[in-house]
Amino acid sequence: MTGQPIPVIIDCDTGVDDALALLFAVRHPGLDLRAVTCVAGNTDVDGVVRNTLTVLEQAGAGDVPVARGAERPLIEAPRSARHVHGADGMGDLGLPVPAARRPVDVDAVTLLRREILAAPRPVTLIPTAPLTNIALLLRTHPEVTRNIERIVFMGGAVATGNATPVAEFNVWHDPEAAAVLLTAGVPITMYGLDVFQRVVVPGAQVRRLRASAEPGARLAGELLAHRPAAPDPDGGDSDGADSDGGLGDAGAVCAVADPEGLTTRLLPVEVSLAPGPTRGQTIVDRRARPGEAEIHGGHREQAMVDVGLDVDVARYVKLYLDTVERR
Ligand code: BDR
Ligand code: CA
Repeated sequence: MTGQPIPVIIDCDTGVDDALALLFAVRHPGLDLRAVTCVAGNTDVDGVVRNTLTVLEQAGAGDVPVARGAERPLIEAPRSARHVHGADGMGDLGLPVPAARRPVDVDAVTLLRREILAAPRPVTLIPTAPLTNIALLLRTHPEVTRNIERIVFMGGAVATGNATPVAEFNVWHDPEAAAVLLTAGVPITMYGLDVFQRVVVPGAQVRRLRASAEPGARLAGELLAHRPAAPDPDGGDSDGADSDGGLGDAGAVCAVADPEGLTTRLLPVEVSLAPGPTRGQTIVDRRARPGEAEIHGGHREQAMVDVGLDVDVARYVKLYLDTVERR
């Protein structure tokens, strides 16, 4: 690694894989984690705050400010993913509540504004959750974009969704907020399901992490064991005995630490806001040339996004393990 660490802020809904992302960000020497903001998503926002503080404590993180953010999407009611992330939203691992850490006494939008504008160099924002806090930030304090280098968000899908056949959970949970994000006017990278689902740690390494004497590495192992690679009935043993574990959101942070592992293409992306079966879909235009719609209807303004299309799986698995196991 050369140069100064990249200032980053993670906006998350911790969340088993958000926890994996935090563990990585705290331990990677090329990243300077300046704040963490919390939003309702995988579980309710108070659960997200608790889980986030617990992870930072277990990871032995420095004094990273954590703030509570939106407790529901802009328009719809919150819809948790506890069936995936457990009743406590973080795998029901029986972790202690945070002993010393507390959230700061300002809300997430205020903390985001403060930390972005105070950073010595432009910040990379890494949302790994529904985009509600980010949309509120962009609408309340648009001046923050002058000190944002880029936004690398986990969300969306080129091909297949998970919350619905076509929509990914983070975008589906708050589609209007995702639409605001895409028009932020800063460079945006979409780390969508197409790459997210591919980065999987083999069972042998998960076992090694779980056996570690070091609490942060051991927690990574427990979280990975809770995260079978394929969320379907034949996708592995979800009690974690021998299963592979997907890095999930942590892959988006790997893409900031090591951008060369992710192949992207600048493409027009639009969020479907219509009610009905396409709501929350990220429509990625991969056509080589304009079609009849453009020929007859004229050009429509669309957000251009660096869309993750391929990922070097072995590279990110190694990067993750090397980083989380280093002390
Ligand atoms: C996303 O949804 C959440 O359940 C995960 O934490 C991830 O951010 C995947 O669709
Ligand atoms: Ca998440």
